[in-house]
Amino acid sequence: MSDTTHATLQLAGKQYALPVFIGTEGETAFDITRLREQSGAITFDEGYGNTGSCASTVTYIEGEKGILRYRGYPIEQLAEYSHFVETAYLVIYGELPTRGQRAKFSDLLTENAPIHERMVYLFESYPRDAHPMALLGAMVNALACYYPHLATNTHYGDTDNFDEAAATLISKVRTITAMAYRMSRGLPVIYPKRSLKYCENFLHMMFSDPYEHYQCPEVVSRALNLILLLHADHEQNCSTATVRMVASSGANLFASAASGVCALWGPFHGGANQAVIEMLQTIHDDGDDGSRFIASAKQGKCRLMGFGHRIYRNYDPRAKIIGKACEELLRTLGVQDPLLDIARRLEQAALSDNYFVERKLYPNVDFYSGIMMRAIGIPMNMFTVMFAIGRMPGWVAHWREVAAAGRPRIYRPRQIYTGCSCREYLPVEKRG
Ligand SMILES: CC(C)(COP(=O)(O)OP(=O)(O)OC[C@H]1O[C@@H](n2cnc3c(N)ncnc32)[C@H](O)[C@@H]1OP(=O)(O)O)[C@@H](O)C(=O)NCCC(=O)NCCS
Repeated sequence: MSDTTHATLQLAGKQYALPVFIGTEGETAFDITRLREQSGAITFDEGYGNTGSCASTVTYIEGEKGILRYRGYPIEQLAEYSHFVETAYLVIYGELPTRGQRAKFSDLLTENAPIHERMVYLFESYPRDAHPMALLGAMVNALACYYPHLATNTHYGDTDNFDEAAATLISKVRTITAMAYRMSRGLPVIYPKRSLKYCENFLHMMFSDPYEHYQCPEVVSRALNLILLLHADHEQNCSTATVRMVASSGANLFASAASGVCALWGPFHGGANQAVIEMLQTIHDDGDDGSRFIASAKQGKCRLMGFGHRIYRNYDPRAKIIGKACEELLRTLGVQDPLLDIARRLEQAALSDNYFVERKLYPNVDFYSGIMMRAIGIPMNMFTVMFAIGRMPGWVAHWREVAAAGRPRIYRPRQIYTGCSCREYLPVEKRG
């Protein structure tokens, strides 16, 4: 990043020089960090649409062109040649691992797969029908109780043990998820197996039985790897910005990641993949070919879930990759899902409809990911949890950027107050 020039702000007859920062790819920002001190004024940007909240080296997105890169590597190349664990390493540590580094990281994940046995009692105390995202948030936060040496709540202490904490989180999140699934169905808990790779191990904990080992088709583990890899990071989205906010207070990695889980849950963010399937199912059940639903969306009565994005004003590059992978998965497994046909029809109709074209609304990553997860056998109420497993490396990388900063500064936005001016307290008998 270089400070090349200055912009000038005029306010109440005075001029203020604002340094201009240019990012690696030419993104331009006025640095206002000293604006209030110098002028008394602040900027107003509800929803942060025009605000760079940090400088980050993790992910680059160019929404107009549909570009996404992790640590400089195009998502298309990572999707084709890498897998989730390697990409997680890249996102967290900044470089593709050597063979030795990759093996060491995998070993650390394997060692950290089981959860503390006493955590099982925690699961048991939750209602059977608890939403998996509520459980996940609670369990990720609870890791700080069981592994306190990884959650000292000092940036110095926690960054000293960073490798172990990161591996603990990335590995245990899948054990927690599978355990929650088994318990919600009254099924015996299946423990992780050392010999299995990350995705195969997760599917084993989900679908094996004590008397029958789940045979994971190669196409299924490839599909799951791809889904997780495509979700690994997405710069300053709602949940990642939340993780950074919490991390800035000095909170440990588990507490910060748990806040990310909570932020992800909403339907405008990670909850969209579930909303897409619900929408497709409704269209199917109504005997609609999609045209009635599109007409309603154009009248503002509903939204075409899995379409549109705050940043992408072009095809979400992840949607292109996942759309193709979805076809391949269903074809190879011999699954006929009527929801895929509806999704394809909706996509074609929307892409040629002026309403969507003018507003630059294209399919996003959630449009096809749910159909893939259904084909794998993952229940719909777990879709957002799968997103969380995928996003964990991103949250870890961003926590580290905040925690390892030389002089961490707590994030603390300001506001424009629009409430009442100062007024006198009225005793209750005088309030009418
Ligand atoms: C993602 C999303 C929240 C981004 O919202 P945003 O950047 O704030 O965009 P806006 O809400 O300002 O929408 C701009 C215009 O497009 C329309 N629009 C946006 N997304 C739409 C959708 N999915 N279906 C129909 N119309 C949509 C809005 O109604 C608005 O139209 P108007 O200008 O006539 O009022 C939004 O596109 C959405 O709700 N998509 C569906 C949910 C989803 O898939 N989320 C996952 C994101 S990865």
